[in-house]
Amino acid sequence: MSRAPLESSPIVEAYRARTRESAALAGNAAAQFPSGITHDSRHLRPYGVFVDHAQGARKWDVDGHEYVDYFGGHGALLLGHGNPEVLTAVHEALNQGTHFGSSHRHELAWASVVQRLIPTADRLRFTASGTEATHLALRLARAFTGRNKVIRFLSNFHGWHDHMTSGYSSHYDGSPTSGVLTSVAESIVLLPPGDIDAVRHVLSEDSDIAAVILEPTGAGFGMVPVDGKFLSALREATEQYDVVLIFDEVVTGFRVSPGGAQAHFDVRPDLTTLAKILAGGLPGAAVVGSREILDALDFDAAPASGREKIQHQGTYNANPVSAAAGTAALSIIETTDACQQANAYGVRLRGRLNQLFAEKDVPWAAYGTFSGFHIFTNANSRNIDPETFDPTVIDWQELKKNPAGLTHKLRLAMLINGVDITDWPGGTISAVHTDAELEQTVDAFRESISMLHSEDAI
Ligand SMILES: Cc1ncc(COP(=O)(O)O)c(C=O)c1O
Repeated sequence: MSRAPLESSPIVEAYRARTRESAALAGNAAAQFPSGITHDSRHLRPYGVFVDHAQGARKWDVDGHEYVDYFGGHGALLLGHGNPEVLTAVHEALNQGTHFGSSHRHELAWASVVQRLIPTADRLRFTASGTEATHLALRLARAFTGRNKVIRFLSNFHGWHDHMTSGYSSHYDGSPTSGVLTSVAESIVLLPPGDIDAVRHVLSEDSDIAAVILEPTGAGFGMVPVDGKFLSALREATEQYDVVLIFDEVVTGFRVSPGGAQAHFDVRPDLTTLAKILAGGLPGAAVVGSREILDALDFDAAPASGREKIQHQGTYNANPVSAAAGTAALSIIETTDACQQANAYGVRLRGRLNQLFAEKDVPWAAYGTFSGFHIFTNANSRNIDPETFDPTVIDWQELKKNPAGLTHKLRLAMLINGVDITDWPGGTISAVHTDAELEQTVDAFRESISMLHSEDAI
């Protein structure tokens, strides 16, 4: 994503003109937060919209404009905003108390539905965020194997803790990002996404690898796709060298299918990290996996097996309100076709957008799997046919590359036309996106393309 200032243009001015209240709040925010925001993905030049409320697949800004929403709570809201059963569960839990500092029934119900859905959830430990979950997963893997290093794949995202910063959107050579210890960065072996030969080579040469972690449908929910064959090969290779395989299902869990990517592809990791949909739109996450590995957290089992117990605190672990929301959301996902609905919309949306790009002669392609979509904006000006575009033949760096400034202008134009897409550019889809949202999205892209054409931005 370009960090260059955005020059004034008709799109920028039209956006400013209709978002005056957001502009005023952004002015306040600039005095309070770095860049006026509280999450890097919310960064938009000249400023993002401030949202007042949301319902279903839509949200409304403080200037009164309505948007089809593809942020979906950063992917947490497979059931859309304000699902009534989730809200009822939250209200009931709130009335009982927001925090007991004790065990409670909600965490048992939450764990039970996770165990019914996720094939490898033999044991669980709840955390407050996905970042904490991947952090804990690495520690568990190191403690279990007695080894130090971890294989990650370039461009895969696993949260923002120190082990996960190099190689995601910068420092592809593995050097530490600002503020991270060199020794921590050196404990990570970064490999090209989807390259099983590279994995096999490292595993055969380096006996200090504790774990391999990846996003199981590819970096950025399939922006850089990998397939089931790669996952099976990875399972085989890690098993051969007694290396812990970690699926980071923070996005894919309960979304790709009720049992996540591991159920869909029928590949069983040793550890899985979960967040987002897990907690029904409230904060919450978990590490789940084999009893053998999670026993390192057990006051009795760890010393009984000659291991040191891993300490793990966390004020908001299994917060009762999050647990109630998560239980309600996962129960709906368990008993309905919510995942299928969202996935089917994804197929329709990607197809319709590619028809539009072909019709308008725009050298872009909409691609993705399951309930995600990505717009390939073709920074290298390849000669492509959107309707037969195959992202697997394009290098991961090119898939992530966008012409300077284009993403911001595209997002502004889409907002002007009533649709909020993410900064990839792309989005995640919910089970309550309907044909009305789909038609509105296609129309918004059509109009946005005209606006971008008229200022020579594409
Ligand atoms: C694949 C993946 N792993 C981990 C995380 C980190 O989760 P959290 O934002 O809850 O810390 C994210 C967040 O977007 C993610 O997409």
